[in-house]
Amino acid sequence: MQADGIGAVSRRAVVGTGGVLAAATLAGCAAPPAPPTVAPTAVGSAGTRLGPAADVPVGGGHVFTDLEVVVTQPSAGEFRGFSAECTHTGCIVGSVTDGLIVCPCHGSRYRLDGTVADGPAPRPLRPRAVRQVDGNLELA
Ligand code: FES
Repeated sequence: MQADGIGAVSRRAVVGTGGVLAAATLAGCAAPPAPPTVAPTAVGSAGTRLGPAADVPVGGGHVFTDLEVVVTQPSAGEFRGFSAECTHTGCIVGSVTDGLIVCPCHGSRYRLDGTVADGPAPRPLRPRAVRQVDGNLELA
């Protein structure tokens, strides 16, 4: 310890700050929570009506929250369905914005083909088969 006390204070500040930084670093680098281990229960079955196909814009998508399904339309007439359950920790994705499916919980974003654009989601969204019948979308 130095006689003027300044060195000692500085050393304590450095050690204290280092401890806080180390804790923050460890917290920031912690692995994301494991995905649910129980297979999610799919809501709805083949033939369950989702809604009008017109609700799904070309180059975008729509989240059918009640049935936990998100449907995208990457190109005109091409509808792709996915489970709306985020592969990170299971939140239901909230919207499709600027061509990306967005999870509100931790910010994961998926492309219109269901692949991960930005984590922490570790895997693509699970596909759900959908079809268009008389202008409406339904589970296939
Ligand atoms: S549940 Fe964490 S990003 Fe979706």
